[in-house]
Amino acid sequence: MDERIIYLDNAATSFPKPRGMLDRMLETYIRLGVSPGRGGYDLAVEADEQVWKARQKLARFFSAPDPGRVIFTSNATEALNMAILGLIRPGDHVVSTRLEHNSVLRPLYHLKELGWLDYDLIPFDGNGLIDPQEIAKALEPNTRLVIVCHASNVLGSVQPVVEIAALCRSRGVPLLLDVAQSAGHLPIDMSGWGISAIAFTGHKALLGPSGSGGLILSPQLDIRATRFGGTGIESKSLIHTQDFPHRLEAGTLNLMGIFGLSAGLDYLEEKDYSCFWQKEMALIRRLYRGLSSIEGVVIHSPPPGKETVPVLTCTIGGLEAGDVGDILDGDYGIAVRTGLHCAPFVHADLGTGDAGAVRFSPGPFNTNEDIDQAIAAMANIVRQTNC
Ligand code: ALA
Repeated sequence: MDERIIYLDNAATSFPKPRGMLDRMLETYIRLGVSPGRGGYDLAVEADEQVWKARQKLARFFSAPDPGRVIFTSNATEALNMAILGLIRPGDHVVSTRLEHNSVLRPLYHLKELGWLDYDLIPFDGNGLIDPQEIAKALEPNTRLVIVCHASNVLGSVQPVVEIAALCRSRGVPLLLDVAQSAGHLPIDMSGWGISAIAFTGHKALLGPSGSGGLILSPQLDIRATRFGGTGIESKSLIHTQDFPHRLEAGTLNLMGIFGLSAGLDYLEEKDYSCFWQKEMALIRRLYRGLSSIEGVVIHSPPPGKETVPVLTCTIGGLEAGDVGDILDGDYGIAVRTGLHCAPFVHADLGTGDAGAVRFSPGPFNTNEDIDQAIAAMANIVRQTNC
């Protein structure tokens, strides 16, 4: 057997990272790894300029109105927590969906337990889609926020976000979009779609390093700071600055992560990232065809289409997903993510809430042969386990 690992877990994190991106990140850090926005010496000023350039690149990439409202965080989870905790006031109501990740479900539950809010979670249909009309019906006079994941990390379905955003705008409720699984795959037009806030992570399809991510805000959205500390400005005051982006950034930034994110964006733009998505979707279609032909494999993701991301989740008969993952890894050198994928309600609704499911997610460096080996491995597992 080929000793090379077949990595099909890019929805968890993209791997390997492009060598050119890593080289650029390291070179910039070797040259400018000082404290940005603090010292007045040339290197610190230059590092700060690079951080600002990264904000500008991100604003351009997501068509966001103001680079000054690009807030760096360590991942999408932190960005979502920051938005939820900074926007919600006692007595508020939130509408979200049963597709969400624990990075949304847990902060909402936490605030509900504190007695601050109530929320409704909209169910998804057989294609993993939310009906915008169901969101409309759930809105209450005190609904403060709608939160939707652009692409499901379990199913790969992509929500009708233009329609949802228009609805939210017409009802005067901000829309927080979790783009952890779509950024770098699909174009995201924050201004054109009228999105109030997007939370992204750097280490998935944006090809940046882990520990990088951010929250991007529309200038109309007022939000409280939920962390306080050093910003390098207004140091005399005990009140944390109200200026953006520092209102939401406290302490020294993850400079290496920001340089890496910036290099990842350059890489995606140079190579035309839509080509990566097309290639990955061709791999998913091949996988979908192959697994569909194996009796005993149940595919839970919708058929790959123009509006899906490269994720396929399936189960084998009554087998525990973790056991399937162990066999794929141990016997075939194939790395996938199994279990509940931190999205427990999706699995509860699919009927996989106990045994979990197996998720395949190819990346830009996978090949047809990788997919064929995955299909053959799944067929062997079905045969050997009599499922
Ligand atoms: N949320 C990431 C995933 O879906 C880690 O695997």
